Amino acid sequence: MRHVHIPLFIIILTTALCSCYCPHDKIRNRTQCAYRIYCFGKIRGVTLPDQCREATNYPVTVDVTLSDAEDHFDEDSFVDEGLLNYITTLKISAPWQTTNLTILTYTTSLQNLYLVNNRIETISGTPFYYLSRLQNLYLSHNKLTDIEQLFQFQNYPNKLRRLSLAHNEIEDLPGDAFGDLSSLVELDLSFNKISDLSEEPFYNLTKLEVLRLNNNRIKDLNGAVNGLPMLKQLYLRGNQIHNINEESLKIIKHLEIFDLSSNDLEQIKPIMFSRHWEHLANASICKIILSENQIVSVPNATSNEISSRFVRQSHGHNVDVTTDLDLSVNSITDIQYNAFQSLIKLVNLNLSKNKLIDFVVNPKDLIHVKYLNLSENFIMKLYYETFSSMNNLQNIDLSGNQLYYIPDMAFNNNYNLKLVNMTYNEIEKLDAIHINMFHPSGGAMDLSNNRLFKLTIPYGEGLRLYSLILHSNNITDISLIDLSHQSELQSLDFSRNSIQELHASSLLLPVSLESLDLTCNKIQKIGPSTFVKFTRLKTLRLSNNHLTRIEYGMFQGLSSLKNLDLSYNRIKVLESKLLLDLKCLQLLSMRSNGLDLIDFTSWYGHKFNLQVYVDNNNFTCEWLSSALNDFNNGYSRVKPTVLVGGHGRHTVEGIPCESGKSEMLFEGPEYVMADERLLATSQKILEAVREQNFFLRKFMRKLFPDEVYQIVSQR
Ligand SMILES: *[C@@H]1O[C@H](CO)[C@@H](O)[C@H](O)[C@H]1NC(C)=O
Ligand SMILES: *[C@@H]1O[C@H](CO)[C@@H](O)[C@H](O)[C@H]1NC(C)=O
Ligand SMILES: *[C@@H]1O[C@H](CO)[C@@H](O)[C@H](O)[C@H]1NC(C)=O
Ligand SMILES: *[C@@H]1O[C@H](CO)[C@@H](O)[C@H](O)[C@H]1NC(C)=O
Ligand SMILES: *[C@@H]1O[C@H](CO)[C@@H](O)[C@H](O)[C@H]1NC(C)=O
Ligand SMILES: *[C@@H]1O[C@H](CO)[C@@H](O)[C@H](O)[C@H]1NC(C)=O
Ligand SMILES: *[C@@H]1O[C@H](CO)[C@@H](O)[C@H](O)[C@H]1NC(C)=O
Ligand SMILES: *[C@@H]1O[C@H](CO)[C@@H](O)[C@H](O)[C@H]1NC(C)=O
Ligand SMILES: *[C@@H]1O[C@H](CO)[C@@H](O)[C@H](O)[C@H]1NC(C)=O
Ligand SMILES: *[C@@H]1O[C@H](CO)[C@@H](O)[C@H](O)[C@H]1NC(C)=O
Repeated sequence: MRHVHIPLFIIILTTALCSCYCPHDKIRNRTQCAYRIYCFGKIRGVTLPDQCREATNYPVTVDVTLSDAEDHFDEDSFVDEGLLNYITTLKISAPWQTTNLTILTYTTSLQNLYLVNNRIETISGTPFYYLSRLQNLYLSHNKLTDIEQLFQFQNYPNKLRRLSLAHNEIEDLPGDAFGDLSSLVELDLSFNKISDLSEEPFYNLTKLEVLRLNNNRIKDLNGAVNGLPMLKQLYLRGNQIHNINEESLKIIKHLEIFDLSSNDLEQIKPIMFSRHWEHLANASICKIILSENQIVSVPNATSNEISSRFVRQSHGHNVDVTTDLDLSVNSITDIQYNAFQSLIKLVNLNLSKNKLIDFVVNPKDLIHVKYLNLSENFIMKLYYETFSSMNNLQNIDLSGNQLYYIPDMAFNNNYNLKLVNMTYNEIEKLDAIHINMFHPSGGAMDLSNNRLFKLTIPYGEGLRLYSLILHSNNITDISLIDLSHQSELQSLDFSRNSIQELHASSLLLPVSLESLDLTCNKIQKIGPSTFVKFTRLKTLRLSNNHLTRIEYGMFQGLSSLKNLDLSYNRIKVLESKLLLDLKCLQLLSMRSNGLDLIDFTSWYGHKFNLQVYVDNNNFTCEWLSSALNDFNNGYSRVKPTVLVGGHGRHTVEGIPCESGKSEMLFEGPEYVMADERLLATSQKILEAVREQNFFLRKFMRKLFPDEVYQIVSQR
């Protein structure tokens, strides 16, 4: 081997060996001996500096990415062992169908090997045999079928911890395929064509913790994983399993994550819900995922399972284990009273998309539930008893059911609700919501998509309700919505109803509101001083209504308003003086109104920059360019702008406009504008002069501390 003793960061061996394989300008080192190198075709022409080669004080990591790799290493030409046997991570992309991976003969330090997405069909020989340090091997997204002899190693035990064979075309798992891999912790065989596990392919994987077999064709586990004492996570999504029992999956009680979603399961066996304490670390979350099967009922836990739960609890272990159970997308009609009794601390229960008409279970088993999803069932009633103990419930999804009222008492003991979702039910009228108090950080309630026309939340209810969603209901008379006691309500959504008029006396809403959405109604008239008490309102949406004009006093009092959306109405003329009350306005949308004219004069002295969206109107280009000019020159703070840029025939700064209209139309405002502009200009000049004087004085004072300052200031 040749050594070149020049203390360079990376040394070119000879100029003859083309550096084009591994361009030197692409080599990076993170620390002393940690390199990242990109090569094309071959790994050639690079060697490490001495201090990284011999007994080094630094950990040597060499991360090589080889693209368009050639598979053969011509023995006659120089094999660049200088680098190869220092490589710790190798990522190869190559167009190989068949390979014997000769390159791996030299990479004796390799720890991580990625051969992903290479369309490899056959790997011949035993190329990993000498890789005694290999820990992670990724062979996913190829077309491998035969892996029988592949994973053989010289040393036993070897170091391989992670092996991925996902997205290949493996059908057979021979009994000894993984026999050498007794250190393996994670094995991924997802997305293959495996149907038969009868040869016990996993029998020697005594350290395996994670096994992924998603999207194969497995019908029966046949005890194939029973010999895996350390297994914690078993993924079987997307197979054809219709039965799990104690024989087929003896170690089920050890599992932390058990994913059997999208299989052919029809029955739940009580064993599926039992777990052993001693296999679960502190703060474990057990996940039992049984969604997308054909389960019709959830039976009572047997006395056996229940007693084992209580034994575990009294064992004195101070370990905190919780359970998530997903039974969504099944055909469950029947849940027996003690169905959940063997589960440890059920926190997350998902029963959405089933065929439940009610939900009556032992409330003791639901004490810890925080998230409950009952959406898309056929529930008409909520039983007081079931919910009465759920003091921890934060998030309940009851959307897509047939509820027509919220029962008294159900949520009486609960002060932790953050989100109550009752969208898509049959509610027409509520005189109470029967929820006394939401979570200390505030709650939201979604009552959209019902047939609601009347709602009262009486005094003493709905404390800490911050957000209420009432869109897509049947509200025509807004005075039937009485929320005047909701003194903490910030956000209220009335969009998609049939409200026609707004008056000061018809808005029985609290002054705490910050956002009010009235989009997509039929509002034609807004009475004077309608919003006068809403001094905290920041956002008001009135788009898609039938407004034709803005009148004096309409927005009186909205002194905090920042965003006003009046788009998609029929307002032809907008005069800025009608909006003078809106001192904090920063965003005004006037899109699609058929406007001919916005008169900006009253806004010349506006406190904030004001963006006005003007898409889809009928402005002339002359008006637009003068408005833009005024803004660009600093005469006005109003900037006409568009959400969607124009590609029409005429545009100014990307904003479409009408050209060639009669000058008459805006001679009037043009003059007014000129006057105002003159005023603004002279004011500006005055300010500038004042400012200059100030700086001049400061400057002079610095230069000539005493006398000159006197002189200048005297002048
Ligand atoms: C890269 O290596 C050189 C010498 O080999 C060393 O001087 C330099 O500090 C290294 N860079 C970093 C970021 O450590
Ligand atoms: C690997 O394949 C190359 C040709 O692709 C061949 O020359 C070489 O002999 C093979 N090596 C082994 C060990 O099979
Ligand atoms: C299985 O592991 C044992 C050690 O636990 C080892 O002796 C045996 O050779 C392995 N089986 C195979 C087929 O490699
Ligand atoms: C389930 O348990 C409840 C309460 O112990 C009992 O009333 C019910 O009959 C049981 N159901 C069945 C099918 O055994
Ligand atoms: C388990 O974690 C909880 C907090 O999550 C802690 O209070 C407890 O002491 C822990 N127990 C053990 C045995 O570590
Ligand atoms: C419950 O199941 C549905 C349907 O499978 C899914 O969309 C949802 O994310 C699941 N999780 C929760 C927390 O509801
Ligand atoms: C409940 O499940 C539905 C699917 O039916 C899902 O769309 C929804 O997001 C889930 N709710 C929550 C709060 O996760
Ligand atoms: C209520 O549920 C519906 C349907 O899943 C969803 O679209 C909506 O966003 C939910 N509401 C809230 C406030 O999360
Ligand atoms: C909406 O309310 C009106 C009465 O105000 C009623 O006639 C109509 O049927 C309701 N529409 C729906 C979809 O419930
Ligand atoms: C825009 O102006 C043109 C010409 O003045 C007129 O024909 C058209 O109806 C106006 N469009 C709208 C939406 O008002």
